[in-house]
Amino acid sequence: MPTFTVDTGAVEYPVVAERGALQRLGEFLPPRRGVLFVVTEDSVWRLHGASVERALEGRRWRRLLFPGGEENKRLAQVEAMAGQMVEAGGDRSSLVLAFGGGIVNDVGGFLAAVFMRGVPVIQIPTTLLAQVDAGVGGKTGVNLAAGKNLVGAFHQPLAVITDPDVLATLPEREYRAGLFEVIKHGIIRSEPLFRLMQQRREAVLAREPGAVEEMVAESVRIKCEVVSLDEKEGGLRRILNFGHTVGHALEAETGYSRYLHGEAVGLGMLAALRLSELAGRISSGLCAEMSAAVRAYGPLPPAQGLAAGGVMARLRRDKKAIQGAVHWVLATGIGSTEVSADIRDEWVREAVASVLEQSW
Ligand SMILES: NC(=O)c1ccc[n+]([C@@H]2O[C@H](COP(=O)([O-])OP(=O)(O)OC[C@H]3O[C@@H](n4cnc5c(N)ncnc54)[C@H](O)[C@@H]3O)[C@@H](O)[C@H]2O)c1
Ligand SMILES: [Zn+2]
Repeated sequence: MPTFTVDTGAVEYPVVAERGALQRLGEFLPPRRGVLFVVTEDSVWRLHGASVERALEGRRWRRLLFPGGEENKRLAQVEAMAGQMVEAGGDRSSLVLAFGGGIVNDVGGFLAAVFMRGVPVIQIPTTLLAQVDAGVGGKTGVNLAAGKNLVGAFHQPLAVITDPDVLATLPEREYRAGLFEVIKHGIIRSEPLFRLMQQRREAVLAREPGAVEEMVAESVRIKCEVVSLDEKEGGLRRILNFGHTVGHALEAETGYSRYLHGEAVGLGMLAALRLSELAGRISSGLCAEMSAAVRAYGPLPPAQGLAAGGVMARLRRDKKAIQGAVHWVLATGIGSTEVSADIRDEWVREAVASVLEQSW
């Protein structure tokens, strides 16, 4: 049974990643808590709420409906939900269950982090992106007008319950976008996962349950391992940003309207692979092989019409730049990476241009 553990030294919690995990939710609910609050979206609840409802039988609980969407991932929603919690008898003994995609994970987790100065949260991610990324790691937060995720807190969950079966109902584009984060985990830390994505593409795209469970479980294992070793992104956790430096710049440059996050990461990984080649970390043969595996999960919205200059300016302002230098995550092989700040501007320009020029 794939149950992993996050152990940061300060906190330890189980992360279940297996088919049917939602049916086991009851096992992870602590006894004798006050009112439980399920933060969820109406659409997710209609599709998969019945299993949660069964697990909560005999408990005092309330559903908090979150309208969904990046535009609602705001403090105002957190305030509204906190108000509903007080009205329904919520107190320091309450527990939050964040049941939905990455947005619900972030908002629900943040609500738990600040309600009465902090109550526990159980994360139940329901999109592929949330299962392999947002659900594990304790990062929570909301957007400001000035930018995404600018207010937040680290709030490690009590447990993470990941059921790959719920992915069967995910819209095709959301599913495909999440696959790029899975490939990322393979490239940075697991050759077996990379090979699975490379060699069993048809099964993965057809959402064959065994293949989906395997790729989700291996991704979750990697995320747990990395977060355990580096809870607050001081060092190792940076490798999870592979493909994200250029990916974030592309998202911002297109006003967050052209690409889903995972899609931008797909393009960003192509740039990062080319950069790894230019910096002499991987051979051109390996660069071609890894890039082909990424491309096989396309096509993606074209990058045409985007100016390399605009993307370069965004890169320089990247919030992960430390003392002015962007820390690049480079591939050094299949399943291994290196973080380097010592990268020539001309290589970056060429890597970015190579992505903007290509069509899928
Ligand atoms: N905290 C972290 O470490 C972390 C990491 C990565 C991303 N994020 C955040 O995650 C967010 C993006 O998450 P997302 O891509 O999951 O988007 P999302 O939460 O908006 O979900 C995408 C869509 O899928 C729907 N959906 C969810 N589960 C479904 C299911 N099982 N079947 C059918 N439809 C379903 C949702 O209603 C929504 O319309 C961003 O805000 C990002 O900042 C956080
Ligand atoms: Zn990401």
